[in-house]
Amino acid sequence: MILIKTHILNPLNRFETEFRKNVFLTIKGNRIHSLSDQPDDDHWEDYTHCVCLPGMIDAHVHLSQFRIRGKHSSELLPWLNEHVFPEEARSSEPEYADVIAREFFQDLIRKGTTTSVIYTAPFFSACDKAFRIAEELGVRALIGAALMDVNSPEGLQQKTDTAFQESVDLYHEWNGKNELLEYIFSPRFAPVCSPRLMKLTGDFASRNNAYIQTHLSENLEEIKLVRSLYPEVSSYTEVYLKNNLLGPKTLLGHAIHLSDSELEIIKKTGSKVIHCPDSNFFLKSGQFPWSDLLRFEIPFALGSDVGAGTDLSMFQVMKMANYRQDEYIVSPEEAFYLATRGGAEAIGKDDQIGAIEVGKSADLVFADCRDPQTRESSDILSELMYLETNQKINTVFVNGKIKFQRAR
Ligand code: GUN
Ligand code: ZN
Repeated sequence: MILIKTHILNPLNRFETEFRKNVFLTIKGNRIHSLSDQPDDDHWEDYTHCVCLPGMIDAHVHLSQFRIRGKHSSELLPWLNEHVFPEEARSSEPEYADVIAREFFQDLIRKGTTTSVIYTAPFFSACDKAFRIAEELGVRALIGAALMDVNSPEGLQQKTDTAFQESVDLYHEWNGKNELLEYIFSPRFAPVCSPRLMKLTGDFASRNNAYIQTHLSENLEEIKLVRSLYPEVSSYTEVYLKNNLLGPKTLLGHAIHLSDSELEIIKKTGSKVIHCPDSNFFLKSGQFPWSDLLRFEIPFALGSDVGAGTDLSMFQVMKMANYRQDEYIVSPEEAFYLATRGGAEAIGKDDQIGAIEVGKSADLVFADCRDPQTRESSDILSELMYLETNQKINTVFVNGKIKFQRAR
């Protein structure tokens, strides 16, 4: 049992954050066992110089692009060709896949992200390696090998049946192998996936109630390309609908340029959207239609989208979420909700993670905080979001275990 005295910032919903000062939090095994104003014991660890937040959730990130953050290109398609595809090809080497997975997960934990939804390079071995390192380090993740079987560079393009079968093998090997890891089928995006690969994947995932992630309508040239590849289909979203890729366990990265009829399809199928604002700035992809998503009541969460996003810090992503909107004002409370409870809701894990409540998994972040006793939560959240570097992560727990502690 671990007993800690601290101040808790707990997202209640999209607009409200609870701030409880001088709380005694106990962790028993991997769960939050109690939260009370009085200690059960005389010996507690003093974290009253910190605020305690739920572990953050990065709902869209590319592990094998970790080393190409900040490599500039004009926009999505040239960037993929110039930087992403050559870099992902390097992860066919098991040693490289090992090194990059370690670097990635260590940085992720250090930045306070305890759950991530990951694409790896399109190789069985690279994805298997990512799972092994995630298991070794004890982080919570949904991981999938990118699927690409058409219009892709040599070295990355897979044969349809091999690509599908390897994903199925990875799913059987890793999905639910321990309580922290799951497989997510990851058809990269329509331009590099054949209809047969998408359909095989969609059918398998729906039969097995498995997760799917892909990219949708991120960039205008990408959309033109999809229109030219599928002249008979009325929209990009419908390409995914026809191939059985949409549903409550589908996470659609970006979803920027959408018509109302596409938003209607997303809503009806129960699919979720992942907004990646830092990436949208970097690739000049456009402005996420925040108000439309709210109008259609489509759940969405946040992703770093590293390597188009420049940093794994979800505080950075929260900041960019507000900066990227010209009119909609993203409050610190809303950004915080999206990086925690909202992320958990989007991936259907809000019964386990995303908030600080008795019975939930002890995925916790302690961040240094000046004068927490005298400040309001909105002031502290705002500082976390905009001045992340002044607000260093002190300690991170995943599933009841310390995974990062800054040298004292
Ligand atoms: N669309 C297809 N692949 C990718 C990728 O790796 N990153 C981003 N941002 N968009 C994509
Ligand atoms: Zn992406």
